[in-house]
Amino acid sequence: MDQKQDHTNTILAQLESTESLNSMDVAKSLAINHQDLVGYLLQLESANYIKTEGLKQDQLILTEEGNTILNSQSGEYEIYQKIPDQGISMADLQKLFGIEQVAKVKQEQGEKKEKQAEDPKKKQFDLGFGNAKKMGYIKMDKGVISKVGNDLPDKIKLELQQFNNIKLGSAQVKLLIERKLAMISTIKYFDIKKGIRYSSKFREQFAALTTEQLLSGEWKDCDYKSINLKAEGEKISMGNLHPLLKVRKQFSQILIGLGFEEMPTNQFVESSFWNFDALFQPQKHPARDAHDTFFCSDPEYSEEVDTQLRDKVKTMHQSGGVGSIGYQYEWSHEEARKNILRTHTTAVSSKMLYRIAQQYKEKGYFPKKYFSIDKVFRNETLDATHLAEFHQIEGVVIDKNASLGQLMGIIREFFRQIGINKLWFKPTYNPYTEPSMEIYGYHPILKKKVEIGNSGVFRPEMLAPLGIPEDVNVIAWGLGLERPTMIYYDIRDIRTMVGPEVKVETVRSNAFCVFESK
Ligand code: PHE
Repeated sequence: MDQKQDHTNTILAQLESTESLNSMDVAKSLAINHQDLVGYLLQLESANYIKTEGLKQDQLILTEEGNTILNSQSGEYEIYQKIPDQGISMADLQKLFGIEQVAKVKQEQGEKKEKQAEDPKKKQFDLGFGNAKKMGYIKMDKGVISKVGNDLPDKIKLELQQFNNIKLGSAQVKLLIERKLAMISTIKYFDIKKGIRYSSKFREQFAALTTEQLLSGEWKDCDYKSINLKAEGEKISMGNLHPLLKVRKQFSQILIGLGFEEMPTNQFVESSFWNFDALFQPQKHPARDAHDTFFCSDPEYSEEVDTQLRDKVKTMHQSGGVGSIGYQYEWSHEEARKNILRTHTTAVSSKMLYRIAQQYKEKGYFPKKYFSIDKVFRNETLDATHLAEFHQIEGVVIDKNASLGQLMGIIREFFRQIGINKLWFKPTYNPYTEPSMEIYGYHPILKKKVEIGNSGVFRPEMLAPLGIPEDVNVIAWGLGLERPTMIYYDIRDIRTMVGPEVKVETVRSNAFCVFESK
């Protein structure tokens, strides 16, 4: 039988004739430390052989100093012993303790006198000297220190030798603690009683019933571990959707539900033409500045677009059409060909409108609803709410009957489905829409209105050059993806959601579900 089994059975045997055991006594009798005993107790308890109750007890233990004294002698006594029978001066006594020298050395180095008091040897000596006087070991007369009596015992050491008999709570204990020779420490131990399956011999418990045990009938004599139905299953390590992806997915599902089709957005680099010019955004517009837009250096210019289209856009900018006088400036091809990182998904919409117009030429008119969700780039200063790359969601409705009222209706329905019911529209200016409306929603956490999107009816100056017939209206709106995600997932700093500071664990532990709409 191995030692472990031995110990286990000894514990059980000790419990046979008594109602309860103290774990400290058991550890002592097995000559093992208490911590090791706890291991055996846990095993016995889980098999219901024993029941334990955790108890605490205060115990007086010697401090390091107390132990040192017990093993040699007290400082007071050392001083007493070093004093010769004829007496000694303070300076000489200190010398015997190696103090004077230290003080001198320090003085030579120009240190202040007070420093001597900080010398630990001196401090120790002063303490012992004071105590030795108080305890009546020594006396001082006209500068001469002498012993009282000749063979006094080391009282402190004697007291510490009696340490085990000192009762907690006595005045003696208080003194020992005050003198930092002893301290109280709380020890934890167990009261051990018989458990419901107690037996004086421990039998191995099987974790599972085997076919062999069943066939041989052996199972009748076997003990089995009980099944812990409350045990938690092992954590499954799995990936999860990033909050942005969840919101993105939900938005696209809503839009698909409303009959929108997704536009292809797989092109981050776009020519200024589709991002700005085709949207009737003048070439001197501040948004086209390097402060707001990332320009590409290689390749710096995009390929030329269809020259007919290019010329129509050019004429619209320079001198207008469809009742407009345009911007009255010299439009530059070169400027329009500059490659940039798209600054909004409306660059995708303008290209799509051109394609639709091409199809109209073959198939004739048909209404269409499109949406896109993808990355856009702006040369922003990064902070808790701004990144240089973020996502936009854009919806476009191409319909002869499309109106401002319909636009407001679609926007209301879209936001209703993501749980934002209170909306406000505020007139604004966009070069490509007229009328244009900023969309404000009620922020449930900030408890105030916040801007959540921009919208409008595309201008004839934009639609006509693309080839969209005059009687076809196009309404559109756009919003950011990050802001609603931050609101719904209570993310305070955008940088914890996107970029190099995102913790994989945050994504992993993210709730599986998407936020609920009312
Ligand atoms: N492109 C606009 C923006 O970036 C949003 C918008 C889209 C406005 C469509 C009107 C129509 O804010």
